[in-house]
Amino acid sequence: MSTDAIVILRDDHKEIRRLFREFESAGDNAHATKDALATKIIEALTVHTYIENETMYPEVRRLLPDLEDDVLESYEEHHVADVLCMELAALDSTAERFDAKMTVLMENVTHHMEEEESDWFPKVRAGLGRKQLAEIGERMLEQKKTAPRSPAQPSALKKAIDAVTA
Ligand SMILES: [Fe+2]
Ligand SMILES: [Fe+2]
Repeated sequence: MSTDAIVILRDDHKEIRRLFREFESAGDNAHATKDALATKIIEALTVHTYIENETMYPEVRRLLPDLEDDVLESYEEHHVADVLCMELAALDSTAERFDAKMTVLMENVTHHMEEEESDWFPKVRAGLGRKQLAEIGERMLEQKKTAPRSPAQPSALKKAIDAVTA
């Protein structure tokens, strides 16, 4: 299994897209399925944004200062997704605003992942060596084991609060 940081993050994106497609193909009234998928989507996003926020973004910012603006924009996009995930985690799929909130979450995240893949990852790959990317990737794989799984967990919540009060 590759420990290349970009390969790891791309694999996460692929899994997130797969979950989005499953959600979109669930029937409007398939509430149990939609609730279960929402839990999985929130979990996948919480873990993914956590390892990017904690490791990938700060490391790239430190090693490639020219990419600072991209990193700052990404933190804001993650923040919007965090807020939606937190709200969705408290909603049942029968709630009036559930589908709309999920749609906005999926649209935002899809846009963000496309930007990372088409623009940001190539710049990072051009700027960092294979060894550096492997080392960052190893740390992210390790971090995945203890990363928060839902936005209600203190470490994820603290991030959201820090972002609001910063
Ligand atoms: Fe991201
Ligand atoms: Fe990402």
